Amino acid sequence: MAEVEPIRWTESGVVMLDQRRLPGEVVYHTYTDYRHVAAAIRDMVIRGAPAIGVAAAMGVALGIKCASARSVSELRAEFEKVADAIRKTRPTAVDLFWALERMQRRFDALAGAESAEAPESEPARVERIRAGLVEEALRIHAERREADERIGILGAALLPESGRVLTQCNAGALATGGIGTALGVIRKAVEQGRQLEVLVPETRPYLQGARLTAWELKQEGIPLTLITDNMVGHFLQTGKVGAVVVGADRIAANGDTANKIGTYPMAVLAREHGVPFYVAAPVSTIDLALASGDRIPIEERPAEEVTHIGGVRIAPDVRAAHPAFDVTPHPLIAAIITERGVARAPYEESLRRLAGKA
Ligand code: MRU
Repeated sequence: MAEVEPIRWTESGVVMLDQRRLPGEVVYHTYTDYRHVAAAIRDMVIRGAPAIGVAAAMGVALGIKCASARSVSELRAEFEKVADAIRKTRPTAVDLFWALERMQRRFDALAGAESAEAPESEPARVERIRAGLVEEALRIHAERREADERIGILGAALLPESGRVLTQCNAGALATGGIGTALGVIRKAVEQGRQLEVLVPETRPYLQGARLTAWELKQEGIPLTLITDNMVGHFLQTGKVGAVVVGADRIAANGDTANKIGTYPMAVLAREHGVPFYVAAPVSTIDLALASGDRIPIEERPAEEVTHIGGVRIAPDVRAAHPAFDVTPHPLIAAIITERGVARAPYEESLRRLAGKA
């Protein structure tokens, strides 16, 4: 069980653990305005694809709960405004867009349905929609937790009995709201008694590995060794890694997978050294609308995240690039672990089968 809770819906607002301040400080913010939820997603108070999806759903529920709309049509206009603000925050993690679509479908169903206690006044309909959207956001959160449990169990079966497992970034409880995807797989394997040690690359430039994954694993007493990103090749080459397991921000229909920058070279090196490379992600991260990974939008983040660490300049005043994700081509991926089953090549078929299931 992961104790870490990155996001929670409360009567006073959406509560988020500020991941920018970890591991130094554990600080929670309570947001009472959807615009602040959108800013929190953009500024990485909360991050990780599934957690971004939960935050998007809660942001919509909050925006609608607080809207002054008196009619369903006014509420619909407000919904569009709220969803639009959240849609513009981060482009790569498809869970965000998936969650907004889910909330939109729920809005439409609630707006179209008549209450059991008909005839219903307009204010009563508005109240029913507000409550229904809060319920839907909570359901999405609960589903993330269930999906992580299932991914953990299915993925643990693929890990070795002992030895080192390499991951990337943070695909743990902080990134999902459950036990994590890649880290959920490792957690379940450790719970089952496997003697594993996690190799954690620091994941420059934002250091999700050093700051977040190391913090999460340490809290749970799971053995880990922190390395710098340029040590990955050495550890794979010297036969000290039994498997690689990473999360995903978007998986195209052919299995090409966008994940944190640095994942692609890790997959190439894993192939070179005969180490299986696994992706663990919920079905909501699969984007069947994109045929291949070259269509996945890659977020370009501020150059200051490269030229500075913790607000301290470490480079001269030069141009710096920060593509936040890269795309691992599907032939490098041994399997994609979802809550509905483990997909293997050919991914066009296996992913369509899993993502298409009810
Ligand atoms: O920029 P971030 O921190 O949101 O990127 C996170 C990742 O790349 C994770 O590996 C991915 O979202 C999977 S999280 C379960």
